[in-house]
Amino acid sequence: MSFKALPKVELHTHIEGAAPPDFIRGLAKEKNVDLSGIFAADGGYAYRDFWHFLEVYEAATSVLNSPQDYARLTRAVLENCAEAGVVYVETFISPDFCGGRDVSAWRDYLAAIQDAAAEAERDAGITLRGIVTAVRHFGPDAAREVARCAQQTAGGFITGYGMGGDEKSGKQGDFAYAFDMAREAGLKLTTHAGEWNGPDEVRAALDDLRVERIGHGVRAIEDPALVDRLVQDGITLEVCPGSNVFLGVYPDLAAHPIARLRDRGVKVTVSTDDPPFFRTDMVKEYEDLSRQFGWDAADFKALNLTAIEAAFCDDATRERVRKIVEAQDV
Ligand code: ADE
Ligand code: ZN
Repeated sequence: MSFKALPKVELHTHIEGAAPPDFIRGLAKEKNVDLSGIFAADGGYAYRDFWHFLEVYEAATSVLNSPQDYARLTRAVLENCAEAGVVYVETFISPDFCGGRDVSAWRDYLAAIQDAAAEAERDAGITLRGIVTAVRHFGPDAAREVARCAQQTAGGFITGYGMGGDEKSGKQGDFAYAFDMAREAGLKLTTHAGEWNGPDEVRAALDDLRVERIGHGVRAIEDPALVDRLVQDGITLEVCPGSNVFLGVYPDLAAHPIARLRDRGVKVTVSTDDPPFFRTDMVKEYEDLSRQFGWDAADFKALNLTAIEAAFCDDATRERVRKIVEAQDV
């Protein structure tokens, strides 16, 4: 069956990571920037491993340097999401890249992104919410400045605060102050953990940052007591199977723990992370999961209900999207 028409809820994307390569190539040409080194012969992004991926990601992002660029990016990204049947999506947005962590510049970038999102909502019926994101390898001081940007713009479109980047850099606990700032501003919290590091990293995210969702979190499977805790505490995992397989966290989907985590009662959801970087989209994710684990439309409907339950949006938005998912025939 085709999964394209299923209404989908996606909790874990990075706005720059969702940039179509053609879009970045076009912007580089307009700005006379030579980015030829980050593209493969077929036009897609090229990199060797996760750490090189982060470098290529930042190189691609270097041509996004005005609010207008981000407005165009938002339109391109939401068009692709809507095409894959996504009706609600949350995306990580970094003040590091949007105005260099300056609050007033950040406001301008955010206004442009929000305008573009409102346009997409009108035209394609897709809803976007933003999670302000620190980049772990930029360090705790930068994360505090990012949290200050988050504080100043919390509410409505900006629903959460999170952290991505190199999980091997520093400790989750180094960022506790920044996460406390965001929590005090009423934001919901998530952090990348248990993608490259093991269960201890997930435990640190829960103990030190007190997040309610975890980006990836899949390596929790290595510690049964931690899996029990995830179930008991109702922590939702933003699982990105295609990303994990493409980057080599697991050799193939058969080895990926998403189905085992789900069978143990963990709240798992499905997202694409940085779709063009991993040559994926939500339809492909569903097709691959269906082929590997036998999941059908009813399974995906249940996953999408879990996802909207864990979405960081206000309750009126949640209710509206939940009805769309619930109306899906299975
Ligand atoms: N930034 C963008 N994609 C990421 C990922 N998969 N892990 C950590 N940081 C990221
Ligand atoms: Zn991510």
